[in-house]
Amino acid sequence: MKVLVAYATGHGATAEIGQFIRDALREKGLEVVAANVADVNSVAGYDAFVIGSPIYANMWRTEFSQFLGRFGDTLKSKPSFMFISCIRVLEDDGPQYVQKEYLYWPMLEKAGIKQVEVFGGKLDLKATNFEERWSLSARWDSETLPDMRNGDFRDWNAIRAWAEGIANKLNAS
Ligand SMILES: Cc1cc2nc3c(=O)[nH]c(=O)nc-3n(C[C@H](O)[C@H](O)[C@H](O)COP(=O)(O)O)c2cc1C
Repeated sequence: MKVLVAYATGHGATAEIGQFIRDALREKGLEVVAANVADVNSVAGYDAFVIGSPIYANMWRTEFSQFLGRFGDTLKSKPSFMFISCIRVLEDDGPQYVQKEYLYWPMLEKAGIKQVEVFGGKLDLKATNFEERWSLSARWDSETLPDMRNGDFRDWNAIRAWAEGIANKLNAS
């Protein structure tokens, strides 16, 4: 079984999650390729998909939408799993908020995605440019300011557990 892990990323944190998932799936005996969605020109030959994006200004990234638009029909016809990384999920109401406000379900339904896993991300404010800092302050939608979430909140155990669950499903099918 050949799996494509396709991720969008702005600053590399979600790429690292994608690569970690690739490695966890490989450890379970699957053949896996990981790639940035922007570099994927064809999804022919894959039997399953794991796709992921970070959240920027309350939405997944544009290139991720483009990937869904191009390959949604194929994703719908195969086992497909999706995750996002963000920092709003760290709030008390984060998990529910993210599911309701950050995910555009009509587009996901077209790609057959019915569930989305949400992981804490990594924010390095020193690495952001002026436009990004403006976006973070103008569009931020929580009382806890991003400055309080400057750090790496990726839970590798949770990510591994999710990936292993996917591998078990795929190996059983
Ligand atoms: C400019 C900017 C805007 C962001 N907007 C949001 C947001 O609206 N909601 C959120 O929960 N996280 C937001 N984040 C946090 C990112 O989703 C998080 O840091 C993610 O893990 C980054 O992944 P990446 O390094 O792959 O781009 C933002 C980060 C940046 C730099």
